[in-house]
Amino acid sequence: MSGTPPQLPIVVLDALMPKAQRLVANRRGSMVWQVDSHRGRYAVKIGYPIQATADWPAQPWTALAPAREGAVLCRLGLDDCAYGEWDLGTWNFQPWHEGPDLYELWSPCRDADSRLEPHPSAALSCVEALAALHGRGWAHGDVQPAHFIIGPDRTHLIDLALARGGQVPEGYDFPFRGCLVHYEAPEIARSVLATGEAHPTQEADVYALGASLLISATGWRAVEYPDDAPRREQRRAVATGKRRPVKLHGELGELIDAMLSPVPEDRPTVYEVGKSLS
Ligand SMILES: Nc1ncnc2c1ncn2[C@@H]1O[C@H](COP(=O)(O)OP(=O)(O)O)[C@@H](O)[C@H]1O
Ligand SMILES: [Mg+2]
Repeated sequence: MSGTPPQLPIVVLDALMPKAQRLVANRRGSMVWQVDSHRGRYAVKIGYPIQATADWPAQPWTALAPAREGAVLCRLGLDDCAYGEWDLGTWNFQPWHEGPDLYELWSPCRDADSRLEPHPSAALSCVEALAALHGRGWAHGDVQPAHFIIGPDRTHLIDLALARGGQVPEGYDFPFRGCLVHYEAPEIARSVLATGEAHPTQEADVYALGASLLISATGWRAVEYPDDAPRREQRRAVATGKRRPVKLHGELGELIDAMLSPVPEDRPTVYEVGKSLS
């Protein structure tokens, strides 16, 4: 993927016949395009394998992630999506959701000079998005602020590439090797450190939601470690539960504190969180 400017695979061009297209993200084995077609506006995700570097081992699974996500979306009954293969990996398309993500939405709350409080209605809409997934018997596995798109009517929880809860085609499946460490529950971090793999759970999603609300509202990570610490060291800090006190007042602060409990069974369910917020 180096040298040539990124392009949409021909299979995707054939399927959507874009009127306009814009590359929105291109990092570590995953490209996301915003595509306007006569059918509407879509997010197109293109996966390709990551070669080993000094900092990263080779990651062939990034090539499979879009097809895996596409299969999950189909399983969940989304009909306006498709997925398939291209020369270097897999692709999917899905409806484009307009709106800021949670971190962008709450950026004024993190401004020391402004006294803006995070609005519980936005938190509630994120909770409802996660509750909808949990209600279907799935765990997301990669809950983070950037994955909540706050639309005018509802919030969409995106990036289901790591979700667990139903059958996905074997050829597109791959083991779960943890998520962004800032949002990783201690039991997941311990498992990844010990075995290289873990099982996404709804309890771990609730922890990740708590960490997402906290960082978006205050700028603080749930666990303390140096910014430049290597990933393994960050994970060790999470695994041993070196929690920061939640510096957020009121109901939301108390809820986040409970969601970040080191013991999975002590965390509220996403439905309980929703009830408290509404
Ligand atoms: N359906 C969508 N609607 C709107 N934006 C999207 C959508 N899917 C992805 N994006 C944008 O692309 C970014 C990366 O997408 P994501 O699904 O997280 O893929 P990856 O983590 O593999 O890069 C998101 O943070 C968001 O800004
Ligand atoms: Mg993502």
